[in-house]
Amino acid sequence: MRTILEAQIAESSRAVSDMTDHVGRFRGKQLRGALVLLAGDATGNATDEHPAIAAIVEMIHLATLVHDDVLDGAKVRRRVACVNERWDNQTAVLLGDFLYARAFGLSTDLSSRLASRVLSDATRRICVGEIEQAALRYDFEMPQETYERIAGAKTAVLYGAACELGARYPGGRDEAGALLSQFGNSIGLAFQIIDDCLDLVGEEEVVGKSVGNDIEDGKITLPVLHVYEHTDEATRARMRDVYTGVGVEKRLSKLRAVVELRPGIEFALARAQALVREAQARIQTLPPSTSREALCALGDYVLERSW
Ligand code: IPE
Ligand code: IPE
Ligand code: MG
Ligand code: MG
Repeated sequence: MRTILEAQIAESSRAVSDMTDHVGRFRGKQLRGALVLLAGDATGNATDEHPAIAAIVEMIHLATLVHDDVLDGAKVRRRVACVNERWDNQTAVLLGDFLYARAFGLSTDLSSRLASRVLSDATRRICVGEIEQAALRYDFEMPQETYERIAGAKTAVLYGAACELGARYPGGRDEAGALLSQFGNSIGLAFQIIDDCLDLVGEEEVVGKSVGNDIEDGKITLPVLHVYEHTDEATRARMRDVYTGVGVEKRLSKLRAVVELRPGIEFALARAQALVREAQARIQTLPPSTSREALCALGDYVLERSW
């Protein structure tokens, strides 16, 4: 998977290769690519095309990150400057497009169209999730289901697609595909919930990317929704001011001073844990194997991760 990933993002244009070197030098956790391979092994469905699918999934993920950092005005990603920070927004939009083009180009080399179909659908839903999230900025009254629908679309969908393809590519194994897709979706939603907690309580040096950004951008995440719902009106007004006040600096530390975030974090962690436990229980119907155990361990890692 890594070799394919590195070969595919390479480009002869110097301007582009400076950037692909920059984003390629610091690898992410590669969880989505790992899920393609593990889901393939755990369902007895691994093919010699699975590593290419894993690389395509990681390329699409990387493209979404490069674009997401423009949307969020983020500065640090994978412990280095974001493309929009090191170069500029225009460059980052184009590099994201370049990565999508490469990913979909690579998917046309596969013998079955299933991967293109599942991944183009997943990419569309990620865009819908990001657009809906932007439309619901500063909405402190959003129901938990709405938060989960958006987090599901922008993050869980790609986890679901990675697992589904692992289990059913090149086709004809709908039941295994559905089982693993549900597993991936639950793990992916838990992953985004934990990510939203890390944005509130993590340290940039450990997480490896900008923290406190969700507050700066008006994204109301699960821990904050919970705290807001359970506090008094005066505190709610102060919380809203922290998010919306013009020229307010260091909104995260101001929010911490206005309200105790811990109960919200605990609530969100419990929700993430329930999702992971449900996902782990679901795949116990697969025959015992080291890859099934690895899928379960990946679920535990999602809950324990600090970056
Ligand atoms: C970050 O995903 C984007 C979210 C969905 C929160 P990862 O934390 O998996 O990113 P990398 O690939 O490991 O950098
Ligand atoms: C995930 O949301 C974005 C994508 C799925 C691209 P975030 O905005 O929380 O991701 P990070 O925190 O920037 O990695
Ligand atoms: Mg972001
Ligand atoms: Mg985040």
